[in-house]
Amino acid sequence: MAYNPDIKKNNNFNGLSRRDFVRYLIGGSAFSVASLNKLNAAVYQSILSLNQKYIKDEAPDGLYWQAIRKHFLFKDGLIMMNNGTLGPMPKPVFNTLIKCFKLQVTNPYKCYSFIPRKKEEIRYKLAEFIGATPEEVVITRNTTEGMNFVANGLDLKEGDEVLLSTLEHPGGIQTWKLKERRFGIKIKEVPFGLPPKSVKEIVDAFEKAITPRTKIISISHTIYITGLITPLKELSQMAHAKGVLVLADSAHGLGMLNLNMKELGIDFWASSPYKWLGAPTGVGVLYIRREVQDKLWPTIVTGGWDRYKDSRKFETLGQRADALIIALGEALDFQKAIGKERIERRIKALAGYLKKELKKIPGVKLHTPEDPYLSGGLTAFSVEGVDHKKIVNYVREKYNIVIRTVGSKEKGTYGLRVSTPLYVSFKEVDLFLEGLRHLVAHKV
Ligand SMILES: Cc1ncc(COP(=O)(O)O)c(C=O)c1O
Repeated sequence: MAYNPDIKKNNNFNGLSRRDFVRYLIGGSAFSVASLNKLNAAVYQSILSLNQKYIKDEAPDGLYWQAIRKHFLFKDGLIMMNNGTLGPMPKPVFNTLIKCFKLQVTNPYKCYSFIPRKKEEIRYKLAEFIGATPEEVVITRNTTEGMNFVANGLDLKEGDEVLLSTLEHPGGIQTWKLKERRFGIKIKEVPFGLPPKSVKEIVDAFEKAITPRTKIISISHTIYITGLITPLKELSQMAHAKGVLVLADSAHGLGMLNLNMKELGIDFWASSPYKWLGAPTGVGVLYIRREVQDKLWPTIVTGGWDRYKDSRKFETLGQRADALIIALGEALDFQKAIGKERIERRIKALAGYLKKELKKIPGVKLHTPEDPYLSGGLTAFSVEGVDHKKIVNYVREKYNIVIRTVGSKEKGTYGLRVSTPLYVSFKEVDLFLEGLRHLVAHKV
């Protein structure tokens, strides 16, 4: 439906009166639970058939990925290469969201008696998806909340130290700043190269910064300014050997990387599945390793919190927007149908191609490592002599491609960031490169 500027004025929804709209929503066959279920079943059937046909080596822009992208609802040829800020929900997730909200509209009793039981299923699905146990999974609202839960919940004393990288997101910094002001803890920022040359460079930098007062390393898994994927496994091994905890801000990790918490070995990990996983905004994930749960107090509590002996203790948050949680489960199902490994491979193939071509453009400096172990679907770079904001505007106007600027001029991290999620094609990456080459050639 086209946007109707008179909606507010007429109290109408595209020409429908409010009463008609509610009638349409409740009774309309397009929104009936049965038809939404049917639509979802058709999507999964189509993915299943594709998987049977293309076992592994699907062509870059072949039928497999063309078919997958049809399960997204983009309008007007939008090429969304900034899902690092906000990603789209694929159709089944949106359908499920409507279904759940419809339940609240039509039968609130069913909504509160049925959905909470469904929520436990999502915890199990999530645990399986990230290589954890259900007792280690907390369903939060977003990464920021998860980071706050950890910083706030640890008993740190004046003078205790927390190590951050110099490239953290405010959602991972401010919670520690608050603690610094309230309790006198010390924050130390650890720098490394742009981009770092190796895993060792990063691990060594943190190892050198550890003192007897260091209690925790709080670092992005997916650095939003540079696209670096930090080597959590190696960092955790080093930190644990010194009795230091590790908290990872993985806002972008869920849905971008094939994750396994046990392999990473970290203590705490927070993510925002509305970026890469296709979940709606308003639902997040926090992993808390079983062995460290006793060290953490919950931040928000209501009745029952002290009866739980596991991650559920961090989730007595009062009434929730349950529809979002059920939709998160659908997003997991959608990704699982395609395959986590296949998705990571696709995302990294697109990013690898982008980096290879960017390197050929005069004046481009990559801020993201080329090593696929240290990088994922976020590619950041600067371009000498060209106005970065103009690049953002130009590709938007000419190709309907959305990208963004990131970083800071003072810190030397200022540049562009391009996300390459699974629904983007190599042809679209080429369009972006065409635009960039044009601007570089004309020194705009
Ligand atoms: C690395 C990183 N951490 C934290 C956040 C904050 O995410 P949220 O607002 O979902 O909590 C973002 C958002 O872009 C991010 O990129």
